[in-house]
Amino acid sequence: MGAARRFGDVVYLKIGSRRGFLITNPADVRHVLQDNARSYHKSPLYDKLRMSLGNGLLTSEDDFWLRQRRIAQPAFHRQRIVALASVMADAARETADRWQSIAGREEPTDVGEEMMQLTRTVVLRALLGADLGPFASTIDNAWTIINEHIGESFWSLGLTERLPTARRRRFQAARTVLRGAVDYVIDQRRRRPSEDRDLLSMLLSARDEETGEAMTDEQARVEVTTFLLAGQETTSLALTWTWYLLSQHPESQRRLEQEIDAALDGRPPEYSDLEALPYTRMVIDEAMRLYPPAWGFSRQALSDDQLGGYHLPRGWLAFVIPYVLHRLPAFWKDPEAFDPDRFLSERSAERPKFVYLPFGAGPRQCIGNHFALIEAHLIVATLAQRYRLHLVPRHRVEPWALITLRPRFGMPMMIERRAHPQGN
Ligand code: HEM
Repeated sequence: MGAARRFGDVVYLKIGSRRGFLITNPADVRHVLQDNARSYHKSPLYDKLRMSLGNGLLTSEDDFWLRQRRIAQPAFHRQRIVALASVMADAARETADRWQSIAGREEPTDVGEEMMQLTRTVVLRALLGADLGPFASTIDNAWTIINEHIGESFWSLGLTERLPTARRRRFQAARTVLRGAVDYVIDQRRRRPSEDRDLLSMLLSARDEETGEAMTDEQARVEVTTFLLAGQETTSLALTWTWYLLSQHPESQRRLEQEIDAALDGRPPEYSDLEALPYTRMVIDEAMRLYPPAWGFSRQALSDDQLGGYHLPRGWLAFVIPYVLHRLPAFWKDPEAFDPDRFLSERSAERPKFVYLPFGAGPRQCIGNHFALIEAHLIVATLAQRYRLHLVPRHRVEPWALITLRPRFGMPMMIERRAHPQGN
């Protein structure tokens, strides 16, 4: 933030032996992510991610990436996602029902953990048609360890991973748990093939156009791991920050509740209700502006390029940081203020597209963006219809820039049942 404010659109950065530009002009961002995307790969910083996830959709490049993207894409067609909305709504309702016994208690609930559990259930049921069996109770901890490990070393020089420290061993153990869970999911499906054309069946039945070969077990494992992690972590953070911001802005909270009460009249929300809940969606958009779960990403130039009139040599990096783009005073009035009305269509139309990038852009844009938005919309509507969340007084909330943007000290909140007779 400081560098962009001080030096403007293009800032030279040197991180260890790597050199690159932080770019904040929407035209340059568009050039790197979209118009000239062929001249860039994901940066070597993604190697850390590749070490944990393997070479899959999120981390691979060129023809191999394109093949994997084409295999997965049909699972994310809008119609297909709409068909999955009832799975999302059911999962949200189950959480709402479970909160019945937690609401009004003296001790706080970690809403981050609750959202993680919920979004994982949604990915498992909607995309993988599976449960985690014996791994259900250990996966959360394992993923936290993996995320913290990669996140902490993501921007480092890469020396820490080789040290045989206790932390390193903890990381290895977590990876074993994750691998076990993914093997369990694949194994279950292979034993009981499903008629359903969900993502998992697409991955397992895909055949190479030229050779007719199926994906190897190892590659299927990599892709399932990618979807399991990419699909739950980011969405759960978008939700966690949404609850936090609502708790800090009672007026918005009331407006959201009024919208939900008026549109639903006590019925649990379904996909067809979402159109009547525009403010709820704007609150989520604004939460992802202030706290973009994928707060920063980077590319490496495959050939010399020009950015903002400066020469970017081959091999140098381009840093695209949504957290910074989302706060540029040139495009966002009073950028630190929480103001969901920024996302009214007439106000959005005044902004260049490339200053709001919670899902990235160009060919590597998030494959799960519609899935995540419909899911988050349904979850907020379902839970806010019945509950109001309050941050524990004086709890310190600080964004923590790991790979994703997490609340450093968690998000303990008190769950209050809303006095809304029809909603219970
Ligand atoms: C609020 C939720 C989400 C956010 C903020 C988010 C953000 C992002 C971003 C910024 C990228 C691009 C990274 C880059 O260009 O380097 C990305 C890629 C990706 N996301 Fe998401 N994501 C979300 C939800 C999901 C969901 C629900 C899924 C799957 C179920 C998913 C799966 C993926 C995959 C597989 C990629 C790689 C796509 C490719 O390179 O072809 N994401 N996501």
